[in-house]
Amino acid sequence: MKAPIDWAHTRSPVPETKEAQAERIKSEKFFQALCQETSIGIALEDLEGHILFANPALCSMLGYTTEELRDMSCSAFSHPEDQKQEGPLFHQLCAGLIDHYKLDKRFIRKGGSQIWGHVSISLLDARYRTAPLVIGMVQDISEKKATEEQLRTSERSLRDVASRLMQAQEIERQRIGRELHDDIGQRFALLTIQLERLHQDLLKARQEAHSWTALRLCKSAEELATDIHELSHELHSSKLRHLGLPAALKELARKTSSQQDLRVDFHAGPLPKNLSPELAMCLFRVGQEALCNVIKHSQTRNVEMDVTRTNGRIVLKIKDFGIGFEPEVSASGIGLSTMRERLRMFGGNLLVNSSPGKGTEIIAEVRH
Ligand SMILES: Nc1ncnc2c1ncn2[C@@H]1O[C@H](COP(=O)(O)OP(=O)(O)OP(=O)(O)O)[C@@H](O)[C@H]1O
Ligand SMILES: [Mg+2]
Repeated sequence: MKAPIDWAHTRSPVPETKEAQAERIKSEKFFQALCQETSIGIALEDLEGHILFANPALCSMLGYTTEELRDMSCSAFSHPEDQKQEGPLFHQLCAGLIDHYKLDKRFIRKGGSQIWGHVSISLLDARYRTAPLVIGMVQDISEKKATEEQLRTSERSLRDVASRLMQAQEIERQRIGRELHDDIGQRFALLTIQLERLHQDLLKARQEAHSWTALRLCKSAEELATDIHELSHELHSSKLRHLGLPAALKELARKTSSQQDLRVDFHAGPLPKNLSPELAMCLFRVGQEALCNVIKHSQTRNVEMDVTRTNGRIVLKIKDFGIGFEPEVSASGIGLSTMRERLRMFGGNLLVNSSPGKGTEIIAEVRH
């Protein structure tokens, strides 16, 4: 059996009066009882990291008896990966460069299982003792870590579902856009031509009343064909595919300006040629939603849209001079969060600079 810890290590070398000695013994007993009862693991170590004393809480955390732990090196039950982080801190502590450190680390229990502990390590002041000692306190945070891991896993799978949903939505939008453009749009265009012919035939046959009805129907069909054409482009921008992002955004700005009584000042700086179609689509959709928000919420008619590459990032900015809003206040819509998710899929992020009365600036950034 190994010798028990010598508490004299922690005793003052100055001679004591009887009262002082009695007081000290009382106080030591109190602290020893505290050490025994607490649920926090406590260890005293030498400067080589060998355990001199471990309280019952630490023994039960690590699955060793007090005797087994005594003289054991801390590295024997520390996870090697965390050891890399802790080693330099321990050396700085022993060299007196820092007086304490804290970290979350993994401990390997006697049977090989693993627990997480929040440790707080300090140097006991050497001035009052025969040898400097290190005191370590460990709080078992395995449950907290497990809950955090579960949260991270569910966040990951939620993000995964969101990204799949957005991809599915994009594919579906493109399919509907194509159908509208190639099928329904063409049939409407044909119907317009036929109604125009009918109008001419009825005019020749001197059936003027019917002829003018046919012309009215022809005009309505033309309007519907234009709307379908526009909608098909909104759903599936062929400009984006054929001419690239700046041209597609410019067209979006032009159309929005003409249709919505909005002045969109568009500017495009240099952009890389090798922008993937997926990233171009992501930024295009962000631009679409941001402009849509300006129309719906800003109460202004002036907006600036700017896309360029700067400092290794593609940056798309949409700035309006309208009523603004508080971005921290949770909103019922999904536009902003969808933009954020879209960008996250490319490792990018969305900044929303806005406050009431100060307009809104939406900045989408992606490293490229
Ligand atoms: N340019 C803007 N000016 C003023 N308020 C804005 C602007 N953009 C967004 N907001 C505010 O932020 C909220 C959230 O926008 P978000 O796009 O997420 O949702 P929405 O537009 O309300 O609905 P959805 O996009 O789902 O159709 C809006 O309801 C609006 O209050
Ligand atoms: Mg919106």
